[in-house]
Amino acid sequence: MPMDQMVQPLVKAGITVVPPRFIQPAESRPGPPVEANGSQIPVIDMSGLYDERRNQVLAEIAHACQEWGFFQVINHGVSPALMADILMVTKEFFALSQKEKEVNAMKPGATVGYGRLFETKNSVANWIDRLVMWTYGEKQKLAEPCMPLKPQRLGEVVDAYSNAVYQLCKRLIETLAVMLGLEPDVLGERLNVEGLGIRTSCNYYPPCPQPELVLGLTPHSDSSIFTVLQQDGDVFGLETLHNGQWFQVPPLKNAFVINGGNQLQIISNAKYKSVMHRARTNTHVGRYSFPNFLLPSDQTVIEPFPEFLSEANPPLYRSLTFAEYVNGFHSMPFAGGRHIDNFL
Ligand code: SIN
Ligand code: FE2
Repeated sequence: MPMDQMVQPLVKAGITVVPPRFIQPAESRPGPPVEANGSQIPVIDMSGLYDERRNQVLAEIAHACQEWGFFQVINHGVSPALMADILMVTKEFFALSQKEKEVNAMKPGATVGYGRLFETKNSVANWIDRLVMWTYGEKQKLAEPCMPLKPQRLGEVVDAYSNAVYQLCKRLIETLAVMLGLEPDVLGERLNVEGLGIRTSCNYYPPCPQPELVLGLTPHSDSSIFTVLQQDGDVFGLETLHNGQWFQVPPLKNAFVINGGNQLQIISNAKYKSVMHRARTNTHVGRYSFPNFLLPSDQTVIEPFPEFLSEANPPLYRSLTFAEYVNGFHSMPFAGGRHIDNFL
């Protein structure tokens, strides 16, 4: 992605009209937002997993995964101080000069760095600038190194944050295993928990002069096993598709939004769907968000688990390694948003 296409410099230059390459066709524009309140997208108190509320909490998570594909968690073990820190260093990063940010420009074909991901020459551009990093998983970090040297504190903050997020992911993997009717360790074993990596995207959606015409992110599902997303304070933007309608996922201070990704849909043979979501932009405020994508190692075999298969439920997906999945999925056309249901 050539650097002259980043959004922040346009906003800095004071544009009042959005350039044509960002303008969505009429049917894809965001329209008036629809609120989904807490009683719709469940907020789960994770401390309840370890006391007498356990069975009820497990049932709530299973229901949320099947109904919405989304839920929020509180008391998740990642400290509010770390969540504030990652927001602060990310703000410092985007406040650097263009030249300083571009030291870490995303290389062609890479999935990390400063740039914009998953856009092709023909797709409408998203109103987003990102800094993407492998933040957990030694192999992944070595293969695609990308840790900006500025701001100076960034590396240290990202390390502490991703370690804490990984601990949360481990608890979620155990929880998911139990929810899927397996022993707590089984999911981790089958997905090779030691080889898992986390890719963190520090997203910045600058204020947009015409938010009704653009999207911060076009509809997509995530390639992850699941995604652990930190939203920014009280700025709305994330929306999820539910029964054919887009609902806002309300920002909740110190909570994480969890959504199942394409790998969860494959291993559960589509019992747990990887739900489409998108992000809209705002006129006066910029928005930051931090999706942490939990990803298998390249060699991990992904296939529907036997527990989900029967004569009535034949496998919907063939067995393949995660690397094969990535190659196949990302070569699908993006128009209209690619989704796992259209793959394989
Ligand atoms: C994402 O889907 O990767 C990010 C969504 C958001 O900004 O809330
Ligand atoms: Fe996403």
